Amino acid sequence: MSQRFSVVILAAGKATRFKSEHTKVLHGLAGRPLGEYVLCAALAAGPAETWMIVGHEAEAVRRAFGRPEVQFIEQKEQLGTGHALMVACPAIEQSQSPAIVVLVGDVPLLRPETLTGLVKAHEKAKAAATILTTRVNDPRGYGRIVRSSGNRVRAIVEEKLCTPAQRRIQEINSGIICFSRSGLLDHLGRLTRGNAQKEYLLTDLIHIFYSLRHKVIAYPVEDFREVLGVNDRVELAQVEKILRVRKCEGLMRDGVTIINPDITMIDQEVEVGRDTVIEPGVSLLGRTRLGKDCVVKSWSIVTDSSLGDRVTIKPFSIVTGSELAHDSSAGPFAHLRDGAVVEEEARIGNFVEVKKSRIGRKTKSLHLTYIGDATLGERVNIGAGTVTCNYDGEKKHPTVIEDGVFIGSGSMLVAPVRIGKGSYVAAGSTITEDVPPDSLGVGRARQVNKEGWAKERAKSKQKE
Ligand code: UD1
Ligand code: CA
Repeated sequence: MSQRFSVVILAAGKATRFKSEHTKVLHGLAGRPLGEYVLCAALAAGPAETWMIVGHEAEAVRRAFGRPEVQFIEQKEQLGTGHALMVACPAIEQSQSPAIVVLVGDVPLLRPETLTGLVKAHEKAKAAATILTTRVNDPRGYGRIVRSSGNRVRAIVEEKLCTPAQRRIQEINSGIICFSRSGLLDHLGRLTRGNAQKEYLLTDLIHIFYSLRHKVIAYPVEDFREVLGVNDRVELAQVEKILRVRKCEGLMRDGVTIINPDITMIDQEVEVGRDTVIEPGVSLLGRTRLGKDCVVKSWSIVTDSSLGDRVTIKPFSIVTGSELAHDSSAGPFAHLRDGAVVEEEARIGNFVEVKKSRIGRKTKSLHLTYIGDATLGERVNIGAGTVTCNYDGEKKHPTVIEDGVFIGSGSMLVAPVRIGKGSYVAAGSTITEDVPPDSLGVGRARQVNKEGWAKERAKSKQKE
């Protein structure tokens, strides 16, 4: 049985090396805010309490990460990682947990198993501090683990404060340290800003413990990528790539065909059913769910949408916040958005935009059409170039097209308007009044043919 532990996530810093106006933990990474990754790993490890230290854009951070298990503590001035912990002292003092795990907010690839392993190792060794470490070829940017001649961990020395010899050390601090609660509270007050970084460095506690002969151990993580710190946008892109590759590989192992994973963007929370085929250049973003046996063809972007089984999205389509039921299809060049619902076996074709509308079973709208704020029944046929004129310049109005209706090509349906069951609308009509069921609505001038007119015209031109 592992002992109780609590977690402090440091997330108050500004993204200085991002050269950003925004806080780092809110920058997007594979479809989620950067800080979400560490938070999820922490929560999955099952801590007794989880505190998040916030500072820059504190309100936005609270909004993004707020959930019942998380308590926020504000660090008004960011005077270093040690200072962030000082701010958390009153909360830590109240805690019953013997171990406090400090996490930096910018190590998104961390796994919950590693955190539990860290706490177990800490507990087993009865250490005052257990540092999650790793070895890297290029240790630039990280605090180095400095050992005594007896190979004990003597200190963590920050990059800027390293001697040239220390700079060559490849064993580094991941930024994640498990402390004994009492040790942390007893000695945190000894940190000072009397260093070249002029910050309260949490890492300085290690040397303090060493001097007091408190036990400090290193707990190495094998794959250094797990503790990659994201300090600038180049590292952000590197981590993004790792996450995306991992996501695609996971889906492929679960039975999804991804033809070219290198140019496929699938966000972390996306779910895809078996035997679905994802063609090159596709983006599946946000909270998107795809059923079984679907095909998403090249360069389509599906965001926050839900697709049933055997759905086909043809190339260059954009589907946002919409639903497509089993056996339906859309595209090429379709645009479904803002709560479009396409029911079973319905088909949306090229250059068709569907907004906030319901398309009934087996209904077809295949060419050059706008359907907005409309409800379409079953087996409706919408001719090419039809427009639901839903906006009068001030308000949006609804269009209802009942089961079995045939709308001739090039029709303007001026909302609010209802086309009754089984009716027809003549091609080229502008429909401003409801059409009753089983009728023909014609809303255009009758055609007049003026025979011989062209010849007459040609003659009169010759005379001029
Ligand atoms: C930190 C470690 C370094 C380690 C590296 C691993 C310290 C002093 N250094 O360095 O040893 O190798 O992580 O990635 O701990 N923060 C606050 N308040 C502050 C300052 C920072 O909450 O006053 C937060 C930041 O938002 C960030 C985290 O602490 O999430 C770490 O800060 P950062 O500046 O990224 O530290 P590093 O220089 O990377
Ligand atoms: Ca960092």
